Amino acid sequence: MKRSEEFIEMEHRYGAHNYHPLPVVLNRGEGAFVWDVEGKRYFDFLSAYSAVNQGHCHPKIIAALCEQAQKLTLTSRAFYNDCLAPYEKYITEYFGYDKVLPMNTGAEADETALKLARRWGYKVKGIPENEAIIVCCEGNFHGRTISIISMSNDPDSYGQFGPFTPGFIKIPYNNPKALEDVLALHGDKVAGFLLEPIQGEAGVFVPDEGYLKTCYDICKKYNVLFMADEVQTGIARTGKLLACDHEGVRPDILILGKALSGGVIPISAVLADDEIMLTIQPGEHGSTFGGFCLAGRVAVAALQVVKDEKLAERAEELGKIFREEMKAVKSDMIELVRGKGLLNAIVIKPKNGKEAWDVCLKMKELGVLAKPTHQHIIRFAPPLVISEEELREAIALIKQAILSFD
Ligand SMILES: Cc1ncc(COP(=O)(O)O)c(C=O)c1O
Repeated sequence: MKRSEEFIEMEHRYGAHNYHPLPVVLNRGEGAFVWDVEGKRYFDFLSAYSAVNQGHCHPKIIAALCEQAQKLTLTSRAFYNDCLAPYEKYITEYFGYDKVLPMNTGAEADETALKLARRWGYKVKGIPENEAIIVCCEGNFHGRTISIISMSNDPDSYGQFGPFTPGFIKIPYNNPKALEDVLALHGDKVAGFLLEPIQGEAGVFVPDEGYLKTCYDICKKYNVLFMADEVQTGIARTGKLLACDHEGVRPDILILGKALSGGVIPISAVLADDEIMLTIQPGEHGSTFGGFCLAGRVAVAALQVVKDEKLAERAEELGKIFREEMKAVKSDMIELVRGKGLLNAIVIKPKNGKEAWDVCLKMKELGVLAKPTHQHIIRFAPPLVISEEELREAIALIKQAILSFD
């Protein structure tokens, strides 16, 4: 039996079956590449769902991690440490907010944002207690907690996990009129509107140009917080530092995760100004690891790499090449190519019983790793440090995989 098969069997035997991975077992990564336990090299076109924007094992991020790991890792927030404050200063200046609230996973950051919006709704807007509403979008993906799946309309996410958290109204995505209608009706009780600037997990749905700005203006009209979940789209992935930057929108609450650590440790964050952030007082929210020493050091290093290596600009340029090249492929399996920066997707039209999963298996055989999201969509999101030459090499392999079914 091959070593990879042993690991796959062991995982199946001892691990919960809450994922269906591609059959490849990885044990090394560098830049845009990963290697399996048999030593085969692959282009990574998932980047751990856009967490590894800075490339695998970026030397500067790993150096910060190792240096701090030998000194002090965790104090809890019961005491101060000398990593958190410099990180808080750095990240708030970087994104232009008064304050940051550090957490660990994307879901936790989203939960934190929901709590902040509700609290702001009661303390500042004057919504009667326990009546605050958060408006969210159909097709959303904000994580896996009970409250978050209460916003989901994907049966895979919420099925048989009820009862659900009340206080959410779902409206269609990419439809500003639906937002205006719901706020006209319930605006006095709505604390926030939560959305992904591009819906990643739903299959890289890019809304119409102007959608974010129009929604932002509607939120302002009704004194509702505009809350952007940039866990997947943020930190240079879509060709700007934030996807909201494409429309010059500054969210009232900004939610970040994933690439905040370059894929090294779980780090997430919520950014907002004082009027919102200071509605939460000591003892009212927190996390043992949120803002721990390692996180502070790693996040500063990871964000500095994004600036130093101009990753947003790279994503913008390379994304154009990717879409141009893929749109030129003559295959009736390609229904649609869409995306922004280096967050792209191809909608696959099944052919002779072959689906997106089969295309991913073929790509894997040729040396490119990507994974379907929903049955017919393949997301392509390589680390932003990929060179143009590497990207073109990978594109040739992706084309070869798709054309092998013609
Ligand atoms: C937009 C968005 N929000 C939140 C999350 C959840 O992040 P985590 O898996 O770190 O909880 C994800 C994960 O894919 C995401 O894409």
